Amino acid sequence: MKLLVIGGSGLVGTNVSDRGAARGVDVVGTYRSNETADTSIRLDKTDASAVRDVVREVDPDAVVDTAAFHSVDACETDRERAWAVNVRGTRNAAVAANDAGAQFVYLSTDYVFSGDPDAAPFAASDPVSPVNYYAQSKYCGEQAAKLADRATVLRTSVVYGLERPNFVTWLLGELRAGNAVDIVDDQISTPTYAPDLAEACVEAVERDLTGVYHAAGPASMSRYEFSTVLADVFDLDESLVRPTTTAEFGQEAPRPEDGSLDSTRLYDAVDARLREPTDAFGAMRERS
Ligand SMILES: NC(=O)c1ccc[n+]([C@@H]2O[C@H](COP(=O)([O-])OP(=O)(O)OC[C@H]3O[C@@H](n4cnc5c(N)ncnc54)[C@H](OP(=O)(O)O)[C@@H]3O)[C@@H](O)[C@H]2O)c1
Repeated sequence: MKLLVIGGSGLVGTNVSDRGAARGVDVVGTYRSNETADTSIRLDKTDASAVRDVVREVDPDAVVDTAAFHSVDACETDRERAWAVNVRGTRNAAVAANDAGAQFVYLSTDYVFSGDPDAAPFAASDPVSPVNYYAQSKYCGEQAAKLADRATVLRTSVVYGLERPNFVTWLLGELRAGNAVDIVDDQISTPTYAPDLAEACVEAVERDLTGVYHAAGPASMSRYEFSTVLADVFDLDESLVRPTTTAEFGQEAPRPEDGSLDSTRLYDAVDARLREPTDAFGAMRERS
């Protein structure tokens, strides 16, 4: 089997390449500005003809599109770029994959939901209600993905790992430097370990799963709690993590209060196991 990973230089993309290779899959990855060991082709997915040419040349069985403009606050102000990458770029990739007879896998987000704590955790069949422009563009990206006959949407949440800069690598850096950090305790999610997500993603392709699946970790927790667990597992000073509120923190774009995902449908369909942060941090500590 051959996979083309668009956004192969990113956190999820790097892990999909690694887990795919470990499962004996032939993986070709693209980058836009950060070439890595896993990526051999430069591609901007907003360029429809370039996307079509790359997909034709690689001729994959599946295209996994992890590429996004996902700086949530920047999407609020730079809406044109958010639409160009997250919607038009996704359409380019979905149409090219479909024309090549390939399955199309699109990574989406828990932010498509309202975050109403009374409605959480959200199942894939629950109604969406995006609270910011990033989420709107990702939901429209889901519709663009469905232009492919065999489309798979994997909605995930707070993805972390060691490979590319993310919230956890930033927090480890701050805590190791002895810096105090203010972390919101009123935004709840289901954090997801990138290697586990990648394993499930490759398995979803192997099993030809199509439709919308939630692909997140099993534990629902606030960003503050997640951070204290990290400090604890890495034997760092937990008192450096200080709780704050979303109102005090002041972010440009609104965030869902509780966007926890119920991923039972995916857990029932694949062998891959998505670990809780305590276990995943333990695995990260062994690797670092
Ligand atoms: N990270 C999270 O917490 C999280 C949560 C929910 C959903 N998601 C979704 O999961 C997916 C993967 O996220 P991630 O954490 O792996 O992101 P990431 O580490 O920032 O990687 C993003 C990737 O997209 C590429 N890219 C950006 N713009 C592109 C463009 N116009 N054309 C082609 N490639 C482009 C980047 O390439 P270069 O780096 O080479 O420029 C990079 O490879 C995204 O769809 C995101 O919306 C992420």
